[in-house]
Amino acid sequence: VVVKAEAGGVSSINPDVRKNEEKVVDAVVVNELSKPVTPYCRCWRSGTFPLCDGSHVKHNKATGDNVGPLLLKK
Ligand code: FES
Repeated sequence: VVVKAEAGGVSSINPDVRKNEEKVVDAVVVNELSKPVTPYCRCWRSGTFPLCDGSHVKHNKATGDNVGPLLLKK
């Protein structure tokens, strides 16, 4: 995840995910996952957060970043 330094401080890395919450926290019980491999977003750009929807590809192309999902396996 890119943490962009700006004059006077560091900008947010979460553009718009659940901004009404003080802190975004998700808990997953791995043995209850429905798929053998489930990707979880680490770029904060997914439209299905906390699940990855592939939005990191567009983010990486736009910024030169190299973020990808966390893969949880059963
Ligand atoms: Fe964020 Fe894939 S959409 S890691």
